[in-house]
Amino acid sequence: MVILVVGGGGREHAIIKALKKNKDIDTIYATPGNGGFEGDAICVNIGAKDIKGIVKFAVEKKVDYVVVAPDDPLVLGLVDKLNQKGIPCFGPNKRAAIIEGSKIFSKNLMKKYGIPTAKYRSFKEEEKAIAYLKKQKMPIVVKADGLALGKGVLICNTLDEAIKAVQSMMEDKIFGESGSRIVIEEFLEGPEVSVLSFTDGNVVIPMVSSMDHKRALDGDQGLNTGGMGTIAPNPYYTKEVAKECMEKIFLPTINAMNKENRTFKGCLYFGLMITKDGPKVIEYNCRFGDPETQVVLPLLESDLFTIMQATTNGTLKDTEVKFKNECACCVIMASKGYPTHYEKGYEITMEDKDGVYVAGAKLENGKLLTNGGRVLGVTATAPTLKEAICKAYKKVEKVHFDNQYYRKDIGQRALKAEEK
Ligand code: AMP
Ligand code: GLY
Repeated sequence: MVILVVGGGGREHAIIKALKKNKDIDTIYATPGNGGFEGDAICVNIGAKDIKGIVKFAVEKKVDYVVVAPDDPLVLGLVDKLNQKGIPCFGPNKRAAIIEGSKIFSKNLMKKYGIPTAKYRSFKEEEKAIAYLKKQKMPIVVKADGLALGKGVLICNTLDEAIKAVQSMMEDKIFGESGSRIVIEEFLEGPEVSVLSFTDGNVVIPMVSSMDHKRALDGDQGLNTGGMGTIAPNPYYTKEVAKECMEKIFLPTINAMNKENRTFKGCLYFGLMITKDGPKVIEYNCRFGDPETQVVLPLLESDLFTIMQATTNGTLKDTEVKFKNECACCVIMASKGYPTHYEKGYEITMEDKDGVYVAGAKLENGKLLTNGGRVLGVTATAPTLKEAICKAYKKVEKVHFDNQYYRKDIGQRALKAEEK
């Protein structure tokens, strides 16, 4: 079979490495992929948002199945366009991808169906938003309605900051049209848990839980990034929390989407906060998380491609989805200066490619060169979290490139939580 994976980061590399275990798959293309995928997929230089280009390529190459990994093409309706050509896909159609594409949609959905989330109001007029802010307690959270490369959320400690946040989104359009409508919501406190799930619209099967590390510096300091590392499972996601999430969040969300005639198929990502009043939804993503995927898929024991096809065909309830009873840690190796200014073009060498998921690299004259802020992720699995962390950092030492930076404390908070 011929498979196409849309996207080009560490998440897509982890998906490709997991798909490769299926013996029915002969060829995997990636659009656009990156130089670090060499040996795992054939990279084709078509951007992930080039819907027409991807459809044309998939038809020409007689692709049997397409995995659409990033948010943009899902929200733009790539799955619909491929389905119209008779090509089955992993991922939601445009009507369902709105669960990530519009925060106002997802907040209204949760309100309508009683799914626990932060209290909020949505606005399309700046004056009304500011008048509302003046009556609220601080801190408060201002969110752009649409996709904003994961940067559309501003946590504001003072009224002044909150007003500036609204102005920057609605007047200065720092997130373009994504910020022409906004959500203002209550600030919640508690540990965060990421739960990715497989769903075919009938059943929802949560994957092993995980914890992201979003800040650039050790001790959760510095700027927000695309994610500097992950661990799985997340110790805050206890059996009791999992049960409550299934009853109050996961199933109600799947059912709500069905009732709205927006059946969701693919990977639905629940970004949760475990507050003192129980778990609440911080965000939905209509796709696998990055870098959560880099710890979740290495723990998957069952066959990923079989599960993906079951989400498309509606046969998930008869499909085995089993995870190893182990732990995983992924350390992101970045270019020094990320997420602001950094240099690239340094040669990358590594002793072992196993568990290495490349995000920002290019091949030039047979050499692999750094080509982005987040360069690659190094994952290790082990029976305990402590061992997985230790193994991951040992593997990091065997990957070399100049100008590298990585956090030294991935998993430390989780280890402390385990001890409690
Ligand atoms: P999002 O892009 O929605 O995942 O938000 C990015 C980050 O902002 C989340 O991972 C949280 O750490 C934080 N955040 C979002 N909403 C809230 C909230 N209502 N209260 C506190 N923190 C939040
Ligand atoms: N790691 C968060 C995300 O993928 O959106």
